[in-house]
Amino acid sequence: SSSLPIFSQEEVSRHRTLEDGIWVTYKGGVYDITEFVAIHPGGDKIMLAAGGSVEPFWALYAVHNQEHVLEMLSEYKATESRGPEEAAEPESIGPLFLRPERHPVLRINNLKPFNAETPPEILTESYITPSVFFYKRNHLPVPNIDPATYKLQIEIQAPTNSERGGGVLSLSLDDLKNKFPKHTVTATIQCAGNRRSDMHKAKQVKGLNWGIAAIGNASWSGAKLRDVLLAAGYTLDDSKWAQHVQFEGLDQDVAGTTYGASIPLKKAISEDGDCLLAYEMNGEVLPADHGFPIRVVVPGTVGARNVKWLGKIIVSAEESSSHWQQNDYKGFSPSTDWDTVDYKSAPAIQELPIQSAITVPADGAIVDRSEEEVTIKGYAWSGGGREVVRVDVSIDGGNTWKIAQLKCSDKGADGETTPPPGRAWAWKLWELTVPLPEDTKEMEIVCKAVDSSYNMQPDTILPIWNLRGVLSNAWHKVNVRIQE
Ligand code: HEM
Ligand code: MTE
Repeated sequence: SSSLPIFSQEEVSRHRTLEDGIWVTYKGGVYDITEFVAIHPGGDKIMLAAGGSVEPFWALYAVHNQEHVLEMLSEYKATESRGPEEAAEPESIGPLFLRPERHPVLRINNLKPFNAETPPEILTESYITPSVFFYKRNHLPVPNIDPATYKLQIEIQAPTNSERGGGVLSLSLDDLKNKFPKHTVTATIQCAGNRRSDMHKAKQVKGLNWGIAAIGNASWSGAKLRDVLLAAGYTLDDSKWAQHVQFEGLDQDVAGTTYGASIPLKKAISEDGDCLLAYEMNGEVLPADHGFPIRVVVPGTVGARNVKWLGKIIVSAEESSSHWQQNDYKGFSPSTDWDTVDYKSAPAIQELPIQSAITVPADGAIVDRSEEEVTIKGYAWSGGGREVVRVDVSIDGGNTWKIAQLKCSDKGADGETTPPPGRAWAWKLWELTVPLPEDTKEMEIVCKAVDSSYNMQPDTILPIWNLRGVLSNAWHKVNVRIQE
């Protein structure tokens, strides 16, 4: 009713504990569920929604999709959320930082610009990562782009000494949606810095301290990059000089420098490369944090090349000259330090190596002996379209191994079936249930994955340590105690 007070998202997010009260939102309404959490039939998982919306969780647990659940919720209606006139006003926490609504369950690594990851136990609850939970990695403030005036520039930048003239094409958002066939690709995106914290623990590195969840799997829809390049006039003849496709973002720093990256032309133009200029994520408009209105999706390739808020595409003989292509996102020897590092000596990271991690149980978890068994869950993925063919799990620190069960994909709304060889862009979730060992109270759970090229993860981290903390893919380990 309109007599209830109106609260902002900000105020709701301050109610996350029993002392402050536990508030959640559902379809614009605010609910004070402090009294309900103890009697929730689903247990203390409900606390994940504290201070934010229950809707993304209810999408994961369809059991809530029933009349009696809504009736129950309605008993706790406390307030209206902020009214429509306030809702239209974007919340701002500084002149350059527009803040899209972000769920308080995200683990924030940095606030300005916003960098956050998924709580691991949510990550493996669904094959498709809901966009609210998908990790967000921003180098610069999120730009506010008007879709009505948005233009994507495509430039064929032939070398000055060639006979070919330049080619420029400018496309509106409607052009991209209407003039090109719409394709949907389910692809995992992983940051080069995923699991950096494991590397940092072994020996200090520079960078955001990501846990195991700077990775997510989404279905992306848009125009094929290949189709757009061909429409811009790219021909087979151009392959004599064209080597790279550069991308420029519309996000910029105070000096006007924009985010940029490039990928090999071969990847961009190949039918099998499946590169997209995506305007949808999981069947919905691409969210601001993930690149609205257009991001390039380069399946199998490091997150850094999946440029968001895309403003310009350049077909070139050269790689992108951007900082993030030239002086970051490269791998080095453990012996290279900040005094000796020569960024020109190493290639830019493109395809990522094999990766896997344990999401459940969490490191330090305690399992009760009476439970008799433990279910271990995780994800596995490899770059370059290489399919994960096996995940091995050990509960004794790597002395003995069992083969985890690879779970079939949910087959997203697009009804995708098994991908063709070399085009396995999506992760595999895996699971293994084992009896609790009788002879010990400590379990060191370890996982390692194998891809279709028989690439495997290294056992320890120090031999792959590098000063920037990228490509951290050693065996993932969690310690669990058994309580008698
Ligand atoms: C089950 C209510 C929030 C996770 C249930 C059930 C109800 C309920 C009534 C039992 C449904 C049935 O069996 O017919 C609510 C209400 C919520 C809320 C009113 C918000 C105020 C959440 C959240 C999560 C969650 C945020 C997860 C993050 C679960 C799970 C079950 C469940 C996993 C299934 C438990 C089982 O099958 O053993 N909830 N829930 N719930 N809930 Fe919630
Ligand atoms: N694109 C732009 N324009 N600006 C950025 O800061 N970050 C990159 C990439 N694309 C970035 C960008 C990096 S390092 C990663 S890991 C991914 O976006 C993260 O994508 P996500 O935020 O959708 O998870």
